[in-house]
Amino acid sequence: MKFNHRTAVITGAAGGVGRALAKKLAAENVSLALTDLSLPALQELADSLAGHDIRVQAYVMDVRDSQGVKSAARQILADFGKVDILVNNAGVWVHENKRNALFLETAEEDWQRIIDINLNGTYRVTQAFLPQMVTAQYGRIINLGSIAGEVGLPGFSDYSAAKAGVIMLTKCLAMEMAKYNITVNCVSPGMVSSSDDCTNPTPGNWLGRTGKRSEIADLIAFLAADDAAYITGVDYTIDGGRILGPRGATVK
Ligand SMILES: NC(=O)c1ccc[n+]([C@@H]2O[C@H](COP(=O)([O-])OP(=O)(O)OC[C@H]3O[C@@H](n4cnc5c(N)ncnc54)[C@H](O)[C@@H]3O)[C@@H](O)[C@H]2O)c1
Repeated sequence: MKFNHRTAVITGAAGGVGRALAKKLAAENVSLALTDLSLPALQELADSLAGHDIRVQAYVMDVRDSQGVKSAARQILADFGKVDILVNNAGVWVHENKRNALFLETAEEDWQRIIDINLNGTYRVTQAFLPQMVTAQYGRIINLGSIAGEVGLPGFSDYSAAKAGVIMLTKCLAMEMAKYNITVNCVSPGMVSSSDDCTNPTPGNWLGRTGKRSEIADLIAFLAADDAAYITGVDYTIDGGRILGPRGATVK
């Protein structure tokens, strides 16, 4: 993978996939603006990446807050001079009370929150960084979708609808941005392990295990590289074969 003195913004960088991606990009000498809801975990991550010959800085950015997103983006652009890679990774699938609900029991505030973070957040952050990419005539945008947004997940209609929106936004934006040499792609994971570099057995997909965070990060990094220049508007499923259909009893 080639990265020619690139700078990346990662939203939700203190989470599982975000951290794995930050480590991966730092190892590729990509400078990083790490953003999330609060500083401590981000700062710890930024400190752990010291030693690479890059600039790494942590910023508070709540993707629900339009003004906050705009001012963090202004600060990041002032600090780094440019942003080449934007990874819209911040996402939430559980309701605030930690209990997700079937559609008929989904309260409007829960619906609004899930759509607001996953879909509107992607809109806000992309709006904030895109003008500079257009001026620079270079950009790699990678949005995090989900297989829930591809095939649906009962009990998560809000999250599934939000991620389906993210996937379609990806395609529209890819068409609008092609003339500016900006590619826009989506990565849609299935079940990812809840701790680093581990997998758990599951009968829920053909490979029979959950995905590693680092495996999701590898795909995002591939799409973020300079040499992924001919790939745009694609939603990449990365799910161990989960959406191929149920594992058949006839397969040994
Ligand atoms: N983990 C999975 O199994 C899985 C599966 C499919 C898709 N995804 C998607 O991948 C992405 C990363 O998931 P993850 O597993 O790292 O999740 P995670 O919960 O570990 O990390 C998500 C991060 O987003 C941040 N965040 C939440 N609300 C925010 C807000 N309003 N503003 C800014 N940041 C906010 C959180 O603080 C957290 O650090 C998400 O978009 C998620 O929907 C994950």
